[in-house]
Amino acid sequence: MQKEQLIAKFQELYGEGGEIRTYFAPGRVNLIGEHIDYSQGFVLPFAIDLYTSVAIRKRNDGIVRIASSQRNQHFETFEVSKIKPGYGNGWVKYPLGVLWALGISEGVDIFIDGKVPSGAGLSSSAALECSIAFVLNELFSLGKTLKELALLTQKAENDYVGVPCGIMDQSISLMGKSGFALLIDCGDLSTTLVPLDLTRADLQLLIIDTGVHHALVDGGYAERRASCESAAAKIGVASMRQLSAALLENNQKNLTDSEFMRARHAVTEIARVLETVTKLRESDYLAVGKILNESHRSLRDDYTVSCPESDLVVNTANANGALGARMVGGGFGGSVIALIDRAETGKISIAIEQAFANADYKPPRFFTSLPSDGASLIN
Ligand code: GLA
Repeated sequence: MQKEQLIAKFQELYGEGGEIRTYFAPGRVNLIGEHIDYSQGFVLPFAIDLYTSVAIRKRNDGIVRIASSQRNQHFETFEVSKIKPGYGNGWVKYPLGVLWALGISEGVDIFIDGKVPSGAGLSSSAALECSIAFVLNELFSLGKTLKELALLTQKAENDYVGVPCGIMDQSISLMGKSGFALLIDCGDLSTTLVPLDLTRADLQLLIIDTGVHHALVDGGYAERRASCESAAAKIGVASMRQLSAALLENNQKNLTDSEFMRARHAVTEIARVLETVTKLRESDYLAVGKILNESHRSLRDDYTVSCPESDLVVNTANANGALGARMVGGGFGGSVIALIDRAETGKISIAIEQAFANADYKPPRFFTSLPSDGASLIN
């Protein structure tokens, strides 16, 4: 939604007057580094050009009103003094959680327009949280850094919404930069920009939404996270980041089969991220494609977070000439990325559509996006 349109909708809903600010925060695609942010690993996501816009205005009566263009534009009303975990139901827990995490004690009117498809593994929830956090930081001159905002929005999702997510999605939604993927060290949140100019190599990343909805609250995500933590505790390391392949082998007998497999994914995935950065810098995209395939196999076989629909997309893309493909995000559905020759986009998309039709799956959706900017003012 354009700025003028967003403000017009806001005024239609809440009335005119006062200063209205408008900001956006994007969704993300993770090139590689899956399920290792909560193990202090490295991840390599980029922000996409699908985003959540937000318009906001201060109130002086301690009331918070929240509405979204995706929810028929009816607003819900809350009292800022009551905002703490357990207050509010459904999607409003995301904005309420951010107000809580940032310690806001004044009233606001908030209008949200979210264009990141939800359940597609493209991080619509981080886009929502980060757009609100960014706007509150500016509106109340909180002076928080982007890193601090990332940690606070993660806290909102963990403690208010109740989803035990890591730090990747919020970090990239806030810190993304057009033309770059962002290497994030989830141990200390330090970042390095990695140029990602696929167009120059006549390539593109096709994003395929399988249409299968994942729900991180369902327990599968928390169970994987807990396995990594118990494996680390048994081996005597702080996290998977401190684990080497050799140390893992030596400790296999002390771990359950599933702890060993989860840990093997974490250790190998961290190595794959660093290898991808090297190969990107050398413009060796064939090697990048192979690493994407290895990542997918590891997520499918060791981490067991893929699903038949995602596997079908990966296999079909590869059988039709992709350099590599893998599931992205939390898994159990959501999206797949395929690194492909731009000229092959039509052929590969049609092959995937056909494979889905043959398997009686509902039609997948296709997106592409260049690496885009993180949360910003809407001009
Ligand atoms: C979800 C979580 C992230 C990350 C990914 C898997 O998107 O929100 O923190 O763990 O899954 O890499």
